[in-house]
Amino acid sequence: MKLLLVAGARPNFMKIASIVEAIDSHNLTVQPAGNRLDYLVVHTGQHYDERMAGTFFRDLKLPRPAVNLEVGSGSHAVQTAEIMKRFEPVLEKERPDAVVVVGDVNSTIACALVASKVTFKESTGITRRPLVVHVEAGLRSRDRSMPEETNRILTDALADLLFVTERDAVRNLLREGVPRRRIHMVGNTMVDTLLRHRARAEQSNVLERLGLQAAAPSQTGTARGRDRAVAPYGVVTLHRPSNVDDPAVFRGILKALLTIGRTLPLVFPIHPRTMARLNEFGLLSQCRLLHGDDRIENLTEGLYCLDPLGYLDFLRLLSCAKIVLTDSGGIQEETTVLGVPCVTLRENTERPVTVTEGTNVLCGMSAAKILKAATTKLREPVRPRAPKFWDGRAGERIVNVLQARMLDRQHAYSRT
Ligand code: UD1
Repeated sequence: MKLLLVAGARPNFMKIASIVEAIDSHNLTVQPAGNRLDYLVVHTGQHYDERMAGTFFRDLKLPRPAVNLEVGSGSHAVQTAEIMKRFEPVLEKERPDAVVVVGDVNSTIACALVASKVTFKESTGITRRPLVVHVEAGLRSRDRSMPEETNRILTDALADLLFVTERDAVRNLLREGVPRRRIHMVGNTMVDTLLRHRARAEQSNVLERLGLQAAAPSQTGTARGRDRAVAPYGVVTLHRPSNVDDPAVFRGILKALLTIGRTLPLVFPIHPRTMARLNEFGLLSQCRLLHGDDRIENLTEGLYCLDPLGYLDFLRLLSCAKIVLTDSGGIQEETTVLGVPCVTLRENTERPVTVTEGTNVLCGMSAAKILKAATTKLREPVRPRAPKFWDGRAGERIVNVLQARMLDRQHAYSRT
């Protein structure tokens, strides 16, 4: 069976890393060898710069993409259309048995849509099409103003196999009429990757570089990162258009962050979209910018902005934070697994299990609500529970289902 694994934007790389690893392990042991799963990684190039993409391939030891569509930025329509145009010839050349898309970004829907319409004619005269496989299916925020929500709904409507991270997602899909047999609750591939890389992340010296932890005594080499005291700090990430593209909303959020930053330094690795808006709205002067080897100058206060971090550095930064304020989907899940309090600056979440079983709380975007939620979270003891199947084995479960499909197959998806 030949698979194309599609990744395009930063949160996709962690998700395919787990699937790649599970396929590699499967191929090492599977008998007969004809039951191997062959795969190619296709990078759409939606995220293209070193900080948003390149560093993740290295940190996660992902194979070099076999194809890079190099689409870059654009409006939603332009970006989605460009991915579709460039992906179709790749499909026609590679003629895979399945196309695996992950998450909810424009690359996800673009490649699912192309794969769902392509047909390959065999020498026998039979026509077949690739299975469309969606990993992280069924999540719903019920907020149609989010481009990701549109991408999720449409991708799930097209998918032949839907791999799900939480029970609510199963219910959402059933309610939308997706047949039960297509839905597989497998757990969370992003969590697989986090658990697998946690020990490596502990070796990251990001806290020392930022001045949040004393440097290790170089001679003995015995004081590992986790054994040395870390100054208290919080982490901020923001990139949702609804939070950063409207100057009034962004100003209100910044006001709350600056207030929290008066008693707890906040570290804010800045997404390119957010940096552009800070500049455009003239808000940059309110933050303290860290460049290169700069360190946090005042361990008791400030909002410190820096370039986006690589995966291992960011994981280390998250792990030791007293609190995380974010509008990211993936970070709600990562903080749940790490047991770090998370305040989500949104009115809704497509990942409700992070609230009911994790460390997450939704607070909306007003300054007063952000401050209230952060104060409460900093006081409360954290009592996270691990959601079902968030155990590091989602990739393996996905591969088992794909393998079973391969054996069933030669297969029921030919078009008539
Ligand atoms: C995209 C995803 C979002 C995901 C986020 C993670 C969609 C609809 N949105 O949003 O779901 O949570 O990625 O980061 O797919 N830019 C760079 N360098 C890059 C990539 C982008 O400078 O490598 C700039 C672009 O020029 C653009 C801005 O960042 O101005 C936004 O990038 P874009 O990919 O359009 O959307 P994101 O906001 O990153």
